[in-house]
Amino acid sequence: MNVTRRRFLKATAALYLLPTLSKANAPSAILEAKAASMQLIGAEFGDYPKTEIWGFQGTVPGPLLRFKQGDTLRQTLHNSLPQPTSIHWHGVRLPNAMDGVPGFTQDAVPTGETFDYAFPLKDAGTYWYHSHNRSTEQVARGLYGVIVVKEHTPPDVEHDIVVVLDDWRLDETAQITDDFGAMHDWTHAGRMGNYVHAHLTPSPDTLQKNARVRLRFVNVASDRVMTIAIQGGSGKVVARDGMPLQAPEALGALVFGPAERADVILDVNPSEAQALQIVFLERDTGYLLHEIPLAGDAVATRGPIQALPANPVTYLSDLEGAREIPLVMEGGAMGRMETATFDGEDLSTRELVQKGKVWAFNGIVGMPDAPLATLRQGELVRMPIANDTAFAHAMHLHGTHFQEVLPDGGFGPMKDTLLVQPRETREIAFVAPPPGKWLFHCHMLSHQSAGMKTWFEVV
Ligand code: C2O
Ligand code: CU
Repeated sequence: MNVTRRRFLKATAALYLLPTLSKANAPSAILEAKAASMQLIGAEFGDYPKTEIWGFQGTVPGPLLRFKQGDTLRQTLHNSLPQPTSIHWHGVRLPNAMDGVPGFTQDAVPTGETFDYAFPLKDAGTYWYHSHNRSTEQVARGLYGVIVVKEHTPPDVEHDIVVVLDDWRLDETAQITDDFGAMHDWTHAGRMGNYVHAHLTPSPDTLQKNARVRLRFVNVASDRVMTIAIQGGSGKVVARDGMPLQAPEALGALVFGPAERADVILDVNPSEAQALQIVFLERDTGYLLHEIPLAGDAVATRGPIQALPANPVTYLSDLEGAREIPLVMEGGAMGRMETATFDGEDLSTRELVQKGKVWAFNGIVGMPDAPLATLRQGELVRMPIANDTAFAHAMHLHGTHFQEVLPDGGFGPMKDTLLVQPRETREIAFVAPPPGKWLFHCHMLSHQSAGMKTWFEVV
């Protein structure tokens, strides 16, 4: 091609006159939900074949979506699964139409079709995305991934690592068992797997002594509560469920109900094993999920670990004028529920079990036609949650974070999921999010399928 220098310069100059292509009008990226196979079980457990999974882009976890605070997320779901699906952006404040709940905010996307999601990311932090259709099956098959939204001024660390905690129920050939509706699971603690796994992104081979590391834990298990200990480092918990803690907490064992997250910042300083270790605790036993050995020269130690920069959210200062909406959870094995309403009919526990609907909120099983309450945007709500069952429940509110009302009248951290132990009563308070239909459900997905779900209407 014959391009003169003069024309080239002119062309270059013209380029500068074009509007800058910013992230805000960047094209939508495709997230394809599809079946694939991958090596799930590590070689250290023996010679297992690949596992058939369902994943975004055919991987588990799905692609790690990284943004900066204030960016616009644009993702097009392309469904190549044999079932309809949708994506819920867990913990992200967004317009109701983008919330990904079939039957409420959109139709489930049929095989071969697409849906465009686009919304600004107001808050920095660790969030995640997952299927919200037939989620007991679709999440258990692998349809989830993590969203990292970077702060404008992120803390200074050597490594920023996402740790996905998962729990798989596999057969001897490493295949996911398809007993997703097993009634014993649904009436008890849910679908417990037999392969608990920590997946790190990125996954450094070694760490230097004194290196400062941020670990972003996400429990994506469909039902399992995970207790995690970190050995070989000392630091603080700086965020929960994506939101910065106003006062970082001392780092001890971390308990994660399904969907719960925590960001930890620590300095690597092992005393015994020369490694940083992530350990899964069950009863008196610790199982090593992952370890990163120490290598190289030590780096200089740093000053104290500070709180993360705040997100643009308003913390509660009092409950004056709050509307009280009590919630009683009942049902399940060893429960005291005798009858409940399902689909407008009063049924006995026996009849409910036959229908696979065994958990109730305020005497109603399954998604009610009418909302639990109709709220005005900005209305303050307080909700005592009484768990009159023999099992823990991870209660998740769509649309906004809440704060726990503590026994001393103070408020806990901003959370989007709260683990309520058996026979315990906890209270949450929140400000009603923008208009729309927002779910409130147990994130033990087996419990959700078996009836533990309701919704708020905001007008
Ligand atoms: Cu993470 Cu309604 O869910
Ligand atoms: Cu539950």
